[in-house]
Amino acid sequence: MHDFEVVTNEKIADGIFSLVILAPRLASALKPGQFVNVRVPGDASELLRIPLSYVAADPQVGTVEIWYAVVGNGTQRMSEWKPGFKSDLLGPGGHGWCVPEDASRVLVVGGGIGVPPVLCLARDLAAAGVAVDACVGAATADKLVGVEDFEALGCGTVRVATDDGSAGSCGFCTDPAAELLAAGGYDYVATCGPGVMMSKVAQAAADAGVYCEASLERMMSCGFGACSTCNVETTSGMQGACMCGPVFDASKVVVW
Ligand SMILES: Cc1cc2nc3c(=O)[nH]c(=O)nc-3n(C[C@H](O)[C@H](O)[C@H](O)COP(=O)(O)OP(=O)(O)OC[C@H]3O[C@@H](n4cnc5c(N)ncnc54)[C@H](O)[C@@H]3O)c2cc1C
Ligand code: FES
Repeated sequence: MHDFEVVTNEKIADGIFSLVILAPRLASALKPGQFVNVRVPGDASELLRIPLSYVAADPQVGTVEIWYAVVGNGTQRMSEWKPGFKSDLLGPGGHGWCVPEDASRVLVVGGGIGVPPVLCLARDLAAAGVAVDACVGAATADKLVGVEDFEALGCGTVRVATDDGSAGSCGFCTDPAAELLAAGGYDYVATCGPGVMMSKVAQAAADAGVYCEASLERMMSCGFGACSTCNVETTSGMQGACMCGPVFDASKVVVW
C-alpha cells in the first residue's frame, strides 16, 4: 500500500481530470500498462477502490500522474480533491505491455479515457528510440486528450478521429488505425479504449499479421486476485484482468 498526497488535480478536457500525486516508492515501481487501486473516502456505502491507469511517473520527483473521467460518485468525489489531500492506493497492479524486444515501429491506438496507458507506453518507447505512430479518438473535440503529448514525443504520425467530426476525421479512430496497419511496417500494436474499438483494432492487426496487445477494463472488486469479478473470457479460459491483465494478447480475447 502507498500513502499519497495530491499535488494538483485539474480539468484537462470535458469531464476529464489530471491528478498528480506524490508517492515516491510507487513512482519508481510502475511500468506502462499497470494500474493502481485508489481509495476514495467520503461515502461509507462505497467500499471499493477505483482502478486507474497512470499516464506518467517521475521517479526523480516522486510523482505519478493519472487522467480520469468523471463517470460516477467516486470519480466525482476525486474531482473535488485539492492539493494536500491525502489518501492511499494499492499498486502497481497487474502486468503491463510486453513489447517484443526487437520492435522498431509501433502503433498505439487510444480511445477516450483509454489514452493514458498507451501514451505512457509511447513515451517510454520513443525515449528508447522506437518509432511510434498514434491514433487518438474521442466522442467530440472537447473530450480529446493526449494529442499534443503524442506530437511532443515526436510520433511520426498522429491521426485524430472524433465521432462527430469536430476534430480530425469524422468517425472512429479504428479507421485510421486500419489504414496505417494495412500500409504495413509495424511490429507491434497497443490499444486501450472501448471494447468494440479494441476488437476492431485487434482484427486490423491480425489482418496485417502484427502482434497486438489490448488493455481491458473490467469491474474490479478486490484488485488482487481474490474475487473473480474482473474475469475476461480468453481462448485459455477465464482470466482475471487484475492479475493476468489488464493487458492481454488481443488474439486470445474472446469477449471484449
Ligand atoms: C485496469 C483499469 C484501468 C482503468 N483506468 C482508468 C483510467 O486511467 N481513467 C479512467 O477514467 N478510468 C479508468 N478505469 C475505469 C474506472 O475504474 C471507472 O470509471 C471507475 O471505477 C468509476 O468509478 P465511479 O465510482 O466514479 O463510478 P461508479 O458509480 O462505480 O460507476 C459509474 C459507471 O462506470 C462504470 N464502471 C465502474 N467501475 C468500472 C470499472 N472498473 N471499469 C469499467 N467501468 C466501470 C459503471 O458500470 C457505471 O456505468 C480503469 C478501469 C480498470 C479496470
Ligand atoms: S478484481 Fe478481484 S480477482 Fe480481479
